[in-house]
Amino acid sequence: MVLYLSGGTAAGTHLFGRGYLSCSRMLESDFLMALVERTNHVGAENASDVFVKKLNDFMKHALGERSKRRMSSGDRKDFFRNFVNARIDNPIALVGGGGTMGFGLLMEWLKIGLPPSSFVIVDPKESRHLNRAAKREGIPCLTDIDQLRAASAIFLAIKPQEANDVVPRLKRLIGNHSLVVSIMAGKSIQFISRAIDHKNPGIVRAMPNLPGTIGRGITAAVRNHAVTLDQFELAELLLLGTGKVVWVQESLMDAITAVSGSGPAYTFYLTECLARAGERVGLPSKLAAELAHETVAGSGELLHRSPKDAATLRAEVTSRGGTTEAALKVLEAANGLESLMNRAVAAATKRANELGE
Ligand SMILES: NC(=O)c1ccc[n+]([C@@H]2O[C@H](COP(=O)([O-])OP(=O)(O)OC[C@H]3O[C@@H](n4cnc5c(N)ncnc54)[C@H](OP(=O)(O)O)[C@@H]3O)[C@@H](O)[C@H]2O)c1
Repeated sequence: MVLYLSGGTAAGTHLFGRGYLSCSRMLESDFLMALVERTNHVGAENASDVFVKKLNDFMKHALGERSKRRMSSGDRKDFFRNFVNARIDNPIALVGGGGTMGFGLLMEWLKIGLPPSSFVIVDPKESRHLNRAAKREGIPCLTDIDQLRAASAIFLAIKPQEANDVVPRLKRLIGNHSLVVSIMAGKSIQFISRAIDHKNPGIVRAMPNLPGTIGRGITAAVRNHAVTLDQFELAELLLLGTGKVVWVQESLMDAITAVSGSGPAYTFYLTECLARAGERVGLPSKLAAELAHETVAGSGELLHRSPKDAATLRAEVTSRGGTTEAALKVLEAANGLESLMNRAVAAATKRANELGE
């Protein structure tokens, strides 16, 4: 989403600080005026409110006292409906909506208040969890992309291995005014463009991660030159709905995939290893698993809430001659965790590159 500030990019960067939102146009845009009207003080009761909280933080900084009024969930839904409808004539097709990412992202979008009527889902398996949710929200669910009649935007949440079959079949839906957002690991903007015969739609290649399914993800994204301002705003809304967004150069995407895209799995594996190590030093397995789980989850939450970085937090709990130092000496040894992590991330980067071929 682009917000337009009279202070220009520098003022916007200062306000948003961590690159959540890009700011480059003037304050009087319809979008910002709608925010002024509707996005006042909204508490972030749970993770799914993260997007609204970001808008709200902006309003607090930009408007001070005027931003204190609370925004009802009805107002928020109205705002998002108007925002989305102003940018699309046909639905947003979510292809792969029954998958881990597709379904998880859809649930977050609905939680933050995006209008269900803006979506149509393609899921060949007719997954029960998706069908139940789609029925409840009144979202059409198709089992084959060939059943799609029209789409202003196509969100590709299929596996990269499915791309050669699926993407060319989308050709007939794509024109100059279409937007394609792909979260497929490794698949470049050029691949998508070729697969649809170089038609010239706006293409956004994004790499979200699993915490995005609870509104706590980070997505790196890149767009081609055909992406219009409206499409950029729509794509960023979808991505921001699941957490932070950083816009990057495409050459970084494979490495980003290896760090933040695959990163949650490394953290889960660390939790498993910690539990098994606990068992080896004598803990009952259930207790070891609970201790490891809460330790990793709590440390992540602390890192999230603390203004300190990971290295500072680690140094603060490592007293000289203590137990943590004894363990860290092993982890920091020449063939320790850093060297392992280097190899793991290099392997994932290489694989992302291969998936793109
Ligand atoms: N998982 C992550 O943490 C993560 C993070 C960042 C990015 N990604 C990217 O997100 C994408 C999806 O990953 P995932 O983990 O969510 O995989 P997934 O659970 O396997 O989801 C893929 C979905 O696409 C569906 N599909 C297959 N062929 C289709 C077709 N012809 N038309 C419509 N849907 C079709 C699959 O249905 P079937 O089950 O019936 O085959 C499945 O529901 C991948 O490209 C991955 O690189 C994943």
